[in-house]
Amino acid sequence: MRTSIETSSLSKGDCNLHLSKVRDLFNAKAKTWDRKYQTGGALAFRVAAFGRLVAQKLSPSAKVLDLGCGTGAIAAAVAAHGFKVTASDVAEEMIRVGKQIHAEATIDWRLLLPDWKELPFAAGTFDAIIASSVLEYLPNVQVVLGECERVLKHGGVLIATVPNQRTLIRKIEKLVRPVVALIGDCRGLGQIPRIRSYAAYLKCSCNRMSLEEWQDYGNRSNLILDRVESEASKKSLIFLVFRKATTEREQ
Ligand SMILES: C[S@@+](CC[C@H](N)C(=O)[O-])C[C@H]1O[C@@H](n2cnc3c(N)ncnc32)[C@H](O)[C@@H]1O
Repeated sequence: MRTSIETSSLSKGDCNLHLSKVRDLFNAKAKTWDRKYQTGGALAFRVAAFGRLVAQKLSPSAKVLDLGCGTGAIAAAVAAHGFKVTASDVAEEMIRVGKQIHAEATIDWRLLLPDWKELPFAAGTFDAIIASSVLEYLPNVQVVLGECERVLKHGGVLIATVPNQRTLIRKIEKLVRPVVALIGDCRGLGQIPRIRSYAAYLKCSCNRMSLEEWQDYGNRSNLILDRVESEASKKSLIFLVFRKATTEREQ
């Protein structure tokens, strides 16, 4: 059984509604997002982890797209290592705050339309794409992976983090999701900001798939799962490294 919502099972209206909820959720988080990257912050480990994977996979001056960049902490760290970085997001507030915080960084910032189906880049532009905790929010995973494949160079890599469904916290989230969604919608408990925010997060984070399912999605877009890692400090996420396969025609 699939544990994602699929574009095919959603009407265009429902798909667009989901996309605009995701954008609203992250616009609302933009002002405080960077705090999570400060010393001791919940997301600080991501900078080192992505930095290490990018450095292992790429030569200096490679072109990197950070898809769903948030306020750009990872993009700025990767740019500081000499990579040519484009940072893109659908949440305009994330991009606005990111530009302010990282005014000194050499980053090409791109705001995407919430319902984008094509990335505004030519085929074969990037050596790598980073998607740090983005794929779980997409109602159209296959469309996005297809575009990632198109804008990657041959042999290029997509490095993504997704929720690790094998951990206790993710199992609990799976169980409480329907209840929390109901509570988030109702008066009373739903008016408590933390509960409302958690309910919105669980609703938007719709793709809770197994490794095999992510692998299938990749295969269908010619992106072959090359490596799977988890960080000792943060087991609730897994790092997936997909490589764009060379097709027979190109060999
Ligand atoms: C959990 S945040 C992660 C932000 C950043 N990657 C990080 O790790 O700090 C998810 C980000 O993905 C963005 N996003 C969601 N759907 C997107 C889409 N279809 N295209 C591009 N960005 C998207 C959101 O606006 C948000 O900034």
